[in-house]
Amino acid sequence: MRPYSQNQQGSPRLDPPVVIKFGGSVLRSVDAMPMAAHEIYRILRRGHKVVAVTSALHGQTDALLDDAHNVFGDGAAHNRPALLRLGEMRSAALLALALERIGVDARAVDPAQIGLLCPAPADEAKNEEAIVQACDTARLKAFLERHDVVVVPGFSACDEEGFSSLLGRGGSDQSAVFLASALGAEKVRMIKNVDGLYESDPFCAADAPRFSSLDYDHARRVCGPAIQKQALDLADSQGITLDIAMLARHHGSTIAPTRPARIAHVEAKRLKVALLGCGTVGAGVYQHLARHDDLFDVCAILVNDLEKKRDVDIPAALLGSDPAQVFAARPDIVVEMIGGVDTADAFIRNAFFGGADVVSANKAVLAKRFSALHKAAAQAGRVLRYSAAVGGGVPMLEALDEVREKAAVSSLRGVINGTANFILDRLADGAGFEDAVREAQEKGFAESDPSADLDGDDAAAKLVLMARRGFGRALPVKDIACDSLRDLSAQTVRQARENGDVIRQVSTISRRQNGRLRAAVRLEALPADDFLALAKGERNRLEFTDESGAVHGLQGKGAGRWPTAEAVFADLLDIHRLRAQNEVHIKAMPDNEPVCA
Ligand code: HSE
Repeated sequence: MRPYSQNQQGSPRLDPPVVIKFGGSVLRSVDAMPMAAHEIYRILRRGHKVVAVTSALHGQTDALLDDAHNVFGDGAAHNRPALLRLGEMRSAALLALALERIGVDARAVDPAQIGLLCPAPADEAKNEEAIVQACDTARLKAFLERHDVVVVPGFSACDEEGFSSLLGRGGSDQSAVFLASALGAEKVRMIKNVDGLYESDPFCAADAPRFSSLDYDHARRVCGPAIQKQALDLADSQGITLDIAMLARHHGSTIAPTRPARIAHVEAKRLKVALLGCGTVGAGVYQHLARHDDLFDVCAILVNDLEKKRDVDIPAALLGSDPAQVFAARPDIVVEMIGGVDTADAFIRNAFFGGADVVSANKAVLAKRFSALHKAAAQAGRVLRYSAAVGGGVPMLEALDEVREKAAVSSLRGVINGTANFILDRLADGAGFEDAVREAQEKGFAESDPSADLDGDDAAAKLVLMARRGFGRALPVKDIACDSLRDLSAQTVRQARENGDVIRQVSTISRRQNGRLRAAVRLEALPADDFLALAKGERNRLEFTDESGAVHGLQGKGAGRWPTAEAVFADLLDIHRLRAQNEVHIKAMPDNEPVCA
């Protein structure tokens, strides 16, 4: 999502990535991959690249071993690592696919590609003590320069001859810590099936206090098999912090050179969620919510047409066409995806004053009523989030926020409407205008009325939101001049391609001398190697410059079910965490004293 961030001299900035490791107890089946993708997306939208280390899917290693054992018995051990590597690679590839679906530039790598070296011990019985000795850090960094996420199978490595070797039980912990150390990352986030380390087994004693933080020695005493010993020793010797957490949870245990502190166990509260609208994006959001039924309870879904055939299984009892009934379910969070202005505005206010936080994907209402809706949220003491309103799955607003914390944004230019971009590409390929529009609608990119995409109004609304978040200024939508795709002939688009150019809908904001903003949505012929020309199909790209002259760029899928639902769901998870954080704060143990001798 962040292809580059360059300083004034043009050299790319590559901060150490975040290393995150998913245990086999978390990756229980292919269905868990979108959940792992949510964890990674959360890190990406804070502007970091990610190295994800995966274990084989739950039961996969045993299944592979059983297969071989049943036919060959125990004798053939030399090739066992090659067999088990398949399970590790499968899981890494599945996670990369889940990321690709939401528009993240992820690549699964084979341990051999990054030279992860772990010689097999001469005595097979000693395999449990296997230690990773090296990796090709330069190669790994090169992958990270070109891609946002590198998924590395843990547990599997290579011996001196390049053949597969294994790291012993829990070995993916060690792969993760080793890679973090090689890349200069300070921290490894380990996603487990427990939300941290406890004084005693939380599965036996439900009220066992959890350590919010503890040092490596304490961790050695209490972690049992939860963390591989070699991984813990390596983290200790390299000063790498380990965060132990569960999928989608805010809290966990931090292992670092720190005084141990404990916290009372707090069950994650299930939040009631009402969906307003259940079209392309809404149905995707519903699926994510249903998969996280430990955190969310979908209490009602407002739809126009109760009889409409949906491609997602939704219990009929949840669907309703009467807004009053939906609000009567007293949701904790309302997800507004109906589009339009006045009705959406009324629903959002209704939600706030009924005590619900709001996640919206509706740029039209936010652009028109930005101040009023934020004021209503503040008055009601509620949260308003709308990441999906700009960029689909590309976290454009978050990137602007992050840069603006350090330096004012001077200008931006972007391809920010996936439908227009898709249509322009199809026209260049030789398709007719009507067919291209229909195709965009069928793929779920277009707004319900595609005029907003074709005439630039959708992009203009997004510019209004980017002006607020990136420049801290109001930008009246009427001041944004827009070109319409309807005024462009297919012949012009094809001719441009023949000339080596690419026509793009380019949205811009710059500062005038008097500090006010100038914005436009224009159809422009760009050289084929222009950063924006390289956005293909429904993809979006944004580049912006800050006052130090540094240029920041990001890209991804700007429209469609899964990228957009990802952004909505990330907001939902943020709200869940915010609420859980407050809860934990209230229930924090009064005496955060050291608890172990
Ligand atoms: N219709 C919009 C687009 C959806 O095509 O970009 C995402 O905002």
